[in-house]
Amino acid sequence: MSKVLIAFASKHGCTEECAKALSGKMNTEVDLCNLKEKKQIDLNAYDKIILGGSIYAGRIQREVKEFCSKNESRLKEKKLGLYICGMSQGDEGNKQLMTAYPQSLLDASLVKENFGAKIEINKMNFMEKKLIKIVAKVESDFSNISESVLDQFAQVINEV
Ligand SMILES: Cc1cc2nc3c(=O)[nH]c(=O)nc-3n(C[C@H](O)[C@H](O)[C@H](O)COP(=O)(O)O)c2cc1C
Repeated sequence: MSKVLIAFASKHGCTEECAKALSGKMNTEVDLCNLKEKKQIDLNAYDKIILGGSIYAGRIQREVKEFCSKNESRLKEKKLGLYICGMSQGDEGNKQLMTAYPQSLLDASLVKENFGAKIEINKMNFMEKKLIKIVAKVESDFSNISESVLDQFAQVINEV
């Protein structure tokens, strides 16, 4: 059975935690790759690929964008899962998911999901603390990452 690649970019660790949680739910060997540390990956080794990134000011991490545009044609051929971490829910959260990845990859993906967010105020810099308080009216830590949504996502990838 071929390996699964989970490639992600994370600023404060939420997307990374989701990547690790998904990794623990896979029924085959997994390589985790932090795109902020490693950009050159041999995609030939993988049949299934999961990509994840977090949303800041409406946009996914630059490293995820770059990875997608550089490897778009290869990624389209894979069994693909896409996720974001972001605090916007409903239509806005969905819109962010649909603009985070190229249309061709969204179309090719077997599963795509907004996993939700984790806010840890003490990990933020001064500007982030101000923004999150003023723009999002968030004053204390929270996490709305759902284990069951992660489970459903993992199940789709496991069963293809
Ligand atoms: C300064 C700032 C801006 C943010 N902007 C957005 C946003 O535009 N949309 C959104 O859904 N979430 C936004 N978030 C929430 C993050 O996406 C969320 O905390 C996510 O879990 C972070 O994941 P990471 O720790 O992997 O970077 C923002 C958070 C901060 C601190």
